[in-house]
Amino acid sequence: MSKLGLIEQGAVAIDSVQGTIVFAGPVSALPRDQLAPSCRLVDASGKVVMPGFVDSHTHLVFAGTRADEFYRRARGETYQEIARGGGGIIKTVQATRQATEDELYASAVGRLWQLYSNGTTAVESKSGYGLERDTELKCLRVNRRLAQDSPGLVFSTLMAAHVVPPEYTERRGAYLELVRDLTGEVTALGVADFHDVFVDPLAFTVDEAAQISSQGRWAGLRLKLHADEFGDDGTAAWGVAENALSIDHLAGIGDGGIAAMAAGESVATLLPATMFFSRTGMFAPARRMIDAGCPVALATDLNPGSSLVYSMPFVMSLAVLHMGMSAEECICASTINAAYALDAAGQIGSLEAGKRADVIVVDVPDYEEIAYHVGADLIRDSIIAGKFVKRDGRMVPANSNI
Ligand code: NIG
Ligand code: FE
Repeated sequence: MSKLGLIEQGAVAIDSVQGTIVFAGPVSALPRDQLAPSCRLVDASGKVVMPGFVDSHTHLVFAGTRADEFYRRARGETYQEIARGGGGIIKTVQATRQATEDELYASAVGRLWQLYSNGTTAVESKSGYGLERDTELKCLRVNRRLAQDSPGLVFSTLMAAHVVPPEYTERRGAYLELVRDLTGEVTALGVADFHDVFVDPLAFTVDEAAQISSQGRWAGLRLKLHADEFGDDGTAAWGVAENALSIDHLAGIGDGGIAAMAAGESVATLLPATMFFSRTGMFAPARRMIDAGCPVALATDLNPGSSLVYSMPFVMSLAVLHMGMSAEECICASTINAAYALDAAGQIGSLEAGKRADVIVVDVPDYEEIAYHVGADLIRDSIIAGKFVKRDGRMVPANSNI
């Protein structure tokens, strides 16, 4: 994670029709004779050119607001107290059930473009604020519409196993059956790429997650997990044994979990913005994890309750300040490792010929400065699949040619 493959005098050539990178390397090796006469030059002298950020964990599709909880936590209430008192995820569920598909789509597009403005070029988006068949499907259809109509890749995750909705508290088994049926249905409809389970005293037990995991395997959906978020529940080691694609949060992971993740294939996706925003005062032990050999990714966890955070550079600042990560580790975790967490490392996450041309130009002379300018808008240009979405610091309409 500390080797970036930096090229000091570099060039990237893009086929803007195919939307792919055709060359990435030293400017001296640029095959100039193969470039079309119409080829346009984007001067990035003295700036950092890098792969766009991959935000591999978001809850992008939701309705309503939880601004009240933000201020309640600031006065001392905890995330768990608010959730147990009828706020939290359930409050967003009520608003999301009431919203139309078009309303959900319109608000999610707005958030997606906020992410683009901050240099993110590919995202994952979970359902999980429906917790009933129709609303879960509505949110997953919104994910697919986003994928179709937006320049960047949008991966869709079924997370009906976010929490047990109040109408099922006395009938957890019946809710697990609903999740099972939905797992089959979303696969038949082709509206999900992955599925996710929140394993936590507030949500699902490991035994329940095991049932859901085997249903997902049967349906052909790779597993993602919200695990060991507030304490060491032993979920990380279990997730590795389940061959989860990624295991996320992990603020409470213990030594056993770290050893299992270092030996396994699952990507550890750390979400320091959640810990910051929800004021839990705990951060994942990233330093110990990376030193032990765990593959670590970073993501925003964008959601209305625990992390209304849109900026990967800000997440990187938190990763440095609160988790002791280096500049190189932050970049690796926000690009190629995050692409692995989406099973998409062959397509995105690095500047290599043949990959999608998802490229950003950052207005700093050295990559070390990205996390250092906390909260600044440093993204000068963002190119997604070979087309500008941001140019000279301003957002441009979709499909504007390079
Ligand atoms: O990733 N941990 C559970 N789910 C979300 C929180 C969602 C919410 O509070 O609305 C998370 O932090
Ligand atoms: Fe989450």
